Amino acid sequence: MKRIESFEEYKSAYAESIANPDKFWGEIAESFSWKKKWDTVLSGTFADAKNRWFDGGELNITENLLDRHLAEKGNDVALIWEPNDHSVEYRKFTYTELHKEVCIAAEMLRSLGVKKGDRVCIYMSMVPELVFSVLACARIGAVHSVIFGGFSAKSIADRVDDAEADFVITMDGGLRGNKTIPLKSVVDDALTSTRKIKIVLVFNYLNLPTEKKEVDIDWNELKAEVVSANNYIKAGETLQSEDPLFILYTSGSTGKPKGVVHSTAGYMVWTAYTFLNVFQYEKGDIHFCTADIGWVTGHSYLIYGPLLNGSTSLMFEGIPTYPDAGRFWDIVAKHKVSIFYTAPTAIRSLMSAGDEFLERKDLSSLRILGSVGEPINEEAWNWYHDKIGKGNCPVVDTFWQTETGGVMISSLAGVTPSKPVFATLPMPGVLPVLLDDKGKEILENDLTGNLCFKQSWPSMIRTTYGDHERCILNYFSTYKNYYFTGDGAYRDENGMYRLAGRVDDVLNVSGHRIGTAEVENAINHTHGVIESAVVGYPHDIKGQGIYAFVICDAHAKSLNATQDSSKDANALQDSSKDVAQDASRDASQGFEQEMVYSITKTVSEQIGAIAKPDKIVIVNGLPKTRSGKIMRRILRKIAEGEFDAIGDTTTLLDPSVVQEIIYKTK
Ligand code: WTA
Repeated sequence: MKRIESFEEYKSAYAESIANPDKFWGEIAESFSWKKKWDTVLSGTFADAKNRWFDGGELNITENLLDRHLAEKGNDVALIWEPNDHSVEYRKFTYTELHKEVCIAAEMLRSLGVKKGDRVCIYMSMVPELVFSVLACARIGAVHSVIFGGFSAKSIADRVDDAEADFVITMDGGLRGNKTIPLKSVVDDALTSTRKIKIVLVFNYLNLPTEKKEVDIDWNELKAEVVSANNYIKAGETLQSEDPLFILYTSGSTGKPKGVVHSTAGYMVWTAYTFLNVFQYEKGDIHFCTADIGWVTGHSYLIYGPLLNGSTSLMFEGIPTYPDAGRFWDIVAKHKVSIFYTAPTAIRSLMSAGDEFLERKDLSSLRILGSVGEPINEEAWNWYHDKIGKGNCPVVDTFWQTETGGVMISSLAGVTPSKPVFATLPMPGVLPVLLDDKGKEILENDLTGNLCFKQSWPSMIRTTYGDHERCILNYFSTYKNYYFTGDGAYRDENGMYRLAGRVDDVLNVSGHRIGTAEVENAINHTHGVIESAVVGYPHDIKGQGIYAFVICDAHAKSLNATQDSSKDANALQDSSKDVAQDASRDASQGFEQEMVYSITKTVSEQIGAIAKPDKIVIVNGLPKTRSGKIMRRILRKIAEGEFDAIGDTTTLLDPSVVQEIIYKTK
């Protein structure tokens, strides 16, 4: 695979990729190892969302990211693991060693009866065994579905059932900063309400006391057996190009997360190609992607993209602020990181911690900086560029989505023009268009519209698991013959794109997608809640915060007022501090404070701590039209504090609720 090295080369690659995608991607795909070559490069259309790439081809993706490198790069480091606690020794694995670990884990799964096509849910923290598990699934053709370690038992249960998984891999617990996360007991809790699971493979990491269930198999014991039998170095299972590689759940504008399905060959080609070109990977690079493997960024640019290129990928177990806000920079210095890829929310939080955490940190190994997951504001962009990159490192602002599999719009570091806060230009093969609300293409520049893609690219979403109609409805129906991102974008006079945030009911909180309907559903599970409406508001660190307006039952009001709230309050001590502080401003409202506690607790239980509202106000009514539709526009303005910009409220069923809500939020 040849890297693009100049703007001229980019322009000609781009033109070719649009004019002749078959030839363009066919040539790129030649650089991988195939068990059988494909018959057709691209087939199918957006109309029924059944595009196929490299059809007829057969391969195993792990042979491409491990075996293919062994002869020349066997002794190069594939994976560096930096632990949560910096006094603990880090671990590293050469390609030969990683290959061995993946083969062992694959044999472990085989011995448990996991077969090609089976879905395996993985609920683990950021340890090397998570990477082994993911790749072991891919080795034997099982479909991995990683569930972020911060999700609740209920969220795990929903995903296990939706994915129809028979197998779960977890661990006793994980470490994040000064917290121990009891992963196994959350899984136990989840599995009390799901379909029957055949096996739960449990990696004992911290020796935490856990309950041994009938379905549990101990990772370490099974590994010892497989190693002593000494017959685990086996080829990968043969997969068709379009066989599913993984499912990853993501929020949409409905209440239920969607299982985004990616296929094998297209995803492989795209993650490898975009990694090489966006980050301008060179032999010897140490690539540090700070994302958790529970999100798509961790899949594509911590595991697949870097390893497919034979790069060294660094994974970090902990959090950016532990033991202090200099931890990332210590890691950069310690491992001589050259490519650093993170989210704007992390940049803003480290920027706000103060520049003293940068003092005496040797960041001279850095060559390229990347940003992903949400729009980056100018102040954060400048700090990243000036203070971290010392003005010498190109910053790539990479726009993409779980559904796109890999980067769609971004500059190629140092090769194509960059512009602060602009994702800039499309990757070869990507044809972005802006549509107006009537679905008409906006052809002029210097305008804003709804961002769509007009041409299929190899790693596009293949389906939403178990419900293809939903995939069509979500992505290919708003505008016929286009893939709709759900994002708004501005295109400048030079054709460069700047993302402008979601245009649907999806929030982006700390770079994580959360559907407002999902949070509302969770809130509505709280005893005493009648109805709720959730909107986003600008948040200095998180990008967007979650603002919930909730109507409670008057009966609950009187009941609750006499109940003892200390239990809930204790349980929530840590997690609901912000919300609790907001609520406590009005100490006379004991009932409201209690409701805020219970709502916060319920959301944590239903989804996970990431979806806890930052602000909750208890109101008597919501602004509704006469047909009963909640006017979120009004709530958004109130949440933003723009009381003067609320506009016309005369079409509301009861305009007086607006004044009450404003009064409560002030
Ligand atoms: C947003 C993360 C602005 C966008 C890879 C998108 C961005 C959603 C950027 C996908 C960016 C991602 N600039 N916004 N560079 N990158 N987004 O599925 O709203 O977790 O639709 O994938 O994040 O989030 P997801």
